[in-house]
Amino acid sequence: MSRARVRALRSVDIGLADAAGGGAFFEKVWNLIPVAAEGGVHYLRGSGPFHHILSVRRTPKPCVIRMTFDAADRATVDALHAQVKAHGLATIDPPAPLRNPHGAYGFGFKDPEGRNVAVVCGVADHAERADQPDRPRKLSHINLNADASDATIACLREALGFSLSDTTKRLRFLSCNSDHHSVVVGFSGGPTLNHLAFEMPDLDAVMRGAGRMRDNGRPIEWGPGRHGPGNNVFCYFLGPEDFPIEYTSEMQQIDSAHRPGMPENWIWPPGRLDQWGISAHPSERMEAAGLNVRPPPTRPTARPVRR
Ligand SMILES: [Fe+2]
Repeated sequence: MSRARVRALRSVDIGLADAAGGGAFFEKVWNLIPVAAEGGVHYLRGSGPFHHILSVRRTPKPCVIRMTFDAADRATVDALHAQVKAHGLATIDPPAPLRNPHGAYGFGFKDPEGRNVAVVCGVADHAERADQPDRPRKLSHINLNADASDATIACLREALGFSLSDTTKRLRFLSCNSDHHSVVVGFSGGPTLNHLAFEMPDLDAVMRGAGRMRDNGRPIEWGPGRHGPGNNVFCYFLGPEDFPIEYTSEMQQIDSAHRPGMPENWIWPPGRLDQWGISAHPSERMEAAGLNVRPPPTRPTARPVRR
């Protein structure tokens, strides 16, 4: 029997000390669309169909509370739950009906490094899903720092059905649909966040977004450039409380014929860090920022909110 797989990185829940300020930033500067604010939690969507792609709530320090992956239906949720159980993790909640806006059905678990992961189906998504100028469509990918990199990768592949799409000296790239990558895992510094990437409709939207960030006192910390693996355009920034974020576009689309690259396939000529040859190194502040973004020290648990 073939392995069940998630079909998208749907949303990420983050915590900031100033949740209201963070929510305002992601609406007014980052250009997401607010969809709900309940119990101090700000839910924001992109122009794509997902009900929300980001939620922001108050926590003592910046953190990634949970990443949520989309499954096709209840049978797939159940199959993924069986795979997660078979993987032998310590904390796994059973599938259960969920409360809106979290979906109809799903479960949560803690991955090998303690990150909270949810798998859901049946979310009340939006009918209007056309691109809007200069607005992110969706989350493109989450890039995780990882000390237990092999264990994290094995969990993503064996429990959630991800495929390895590329490997460099510093990173491994994983896909769950036609996007070259939806999750990227590093080899050290975990379990912290390297960055969270939002997909813009085109290159111009990335660059105008960079201008909007600059107008708001947040200069480009790395980029612009075009990555090797994934071939996507990038600009990196520090959001509220130095939360590391990226605008990206033009992600490579792959299919079952794709063969993962190896580190020797991704060696840049001296002085280069991107395909255009214009990008300098990330700022020191950018390199350090994600190491401060950890999973929450205490519960909330892995599970999405139940009915
Ligand atoms: Fe990225």
